[in-house]
Amino acid sequence: MSKTKTTFVCQSCGTQSPKWIGKCNSCGEWNTYIEEILTERKSGSTLQVKGNLKPQLLSEINLNQQSRIVTGNVEFDRVIGGGLVPGGLILLGGEPGIGKSTLVLQIALQLPQLRVLYISGEESLQQLKMRANRLNGKTSPCLFLCETSLENILLHLESEKPDLVIIDSIQTVATELAESSPGSVTQIRECTVAIMKVAKSNQIAVILIGHINKEGSLAGPKVLEHIVDTVLQFEGDRNYLYRILRSVKNRFGSTSELGIFEMRQDGLHEVNNPSEMLLSSHNDGLSGTATAATMEGMRSFLIEVQSLVSSAAYGNPQRSSTGFDLRRMNMLLAVLEKRAGFKLMTKDVFLNIAGGLRVDDPAMDLAVIAAILSSNFDVAIDKQIAFAGEVGLTGEIRPVNRIEQRIAEAQKLGFKEIYLSKYIKGVDFSRFDIKIHQIERVEKMIRTLFS
Ligand code: TYD
Ligand code: MG
Repeated sequence: MSKTKTTFVCQSCGTQSPKWIGKCNSCGEWNTYIEEILTERKSGSTLQVKGNLKPQLLSEINLNQQSRIVTGNVEFDRVIGGGLVPGGLILLGGEPGIGKSTLVLQIALQLPQLRVLYISGEESLQQLKMRANRLNGKTSPCLFLCETSLENILLHLESEKPDLVIIDSIQTVATELAESSPGSVTQIRECTVAIMKVAKSNQIAVILIGHINKEGSLAGPKVLEHIVDTVLQFEGDRNYLYRILRSVKNRFGSTSELGIFEMRQDGLHEVNNPSEMLLSSHNDGLSGTATAATMEGMRSFLIEVQSLVSSAAYGNPQRSSTGFDLRRMNMLLAVLEKRAGFKLMTKDVFLNIAGGLRVDDPAMDLAVIAAILSSNFDVAIDKQIAFAGEVGLTGEIRPVNRIEQRIAEAQKLGFKEIYLSKYIKGVDFSRFDIKIHQIERVEKMIRTLFS
């Protein structure tokens, strides 16, 4: 009797090892090795050459079949580069409860002109129907199926030949060919590759939903990301309503696009003008807030930075930041101390970005400094002032990218003044109808703002 052979596979990067090891030598992750059963390859089989595809010139390749399927969900279409590509695989990842199933179901229900197959391994048909009712979905001819066996899914794909298939989630799909448990790297890889082959040969667009693990990366991550054409990430703070859809990899478009949604009682709503919801209008005249003209991907919007500076009651002052990198905030505090002489080491400093968003745009620096000092002096900053500039370690204010787009957005939203770096080159400011302060150093901005 032959013994079943097993091997240990890193669940993070897919590296194999004959024995269990604590730290993966390949990706450096800890405790990621899990024992999986090896599938026997037929012995004695030799490499066989199949098919008679001939290499082609670019000019001979027919593009017609590549025309995109526009889903009608403007934010989603923009992030994926203008619509679904037949034969293209999209992987949609995100934390549990963020709204992945809701997003794909909404898309599935608004495509009456297409054959859509929604395969769920996580929810029953009744649950899907309840969700669809909640979304007020138009009655569309989308087909639903609860299935986790890869073999059966492939049969359905071959027989139904849908234009779009949605699989929620890839971690629940398993094949009999691999004996390891569903959700393991081997299973995920085998299943995705098999689905991809059928999808590419039948020109089916595929959306796979993928779970992310506790560190925030996709489970079985790198392995999957290499196979699929597009990797989308759906993120946001579950305590807030806003959700951001980002593309991390896209063979059919740019990765700098961004979609913003709001989760409401009846599903996800597209947010076409994010600035309006990120600027709170009710704290006029209060100290500790400043508005940054920031960019996420290719979109500019204005966002409020809030800060609270108070005397530290005990020894070590507290530093806390939500939505902005804490180390960067500490760096900015050090710059304020060293270059502008503010003794903030005896103060607690709290920082918050409105709306539960996480922003890492260096242009936030100026607004962060302004908010902190506004709270420190207890002097409110005029609501009609916006900021966009990076602060260097020496205290100089540095220019940031896409400055014209930022100014235009501030102007559009009715801001009257904007603080920028003095070192911006090649921009014609005369076309803007907004007062522009071009400042070279932090100290100077503080004098202009608070004197
Ligand atoms: P879901 O799509 O199930 O998340 P995922 O598939 O990423 O795990 O979304 C679940 C959350 O969304 C749930 O907490 C309830 C909320 N929700 C709404 O607020 N409104 C809605 O219309 C729907 C369908 C869900
Ligand atoms: Mg789900």
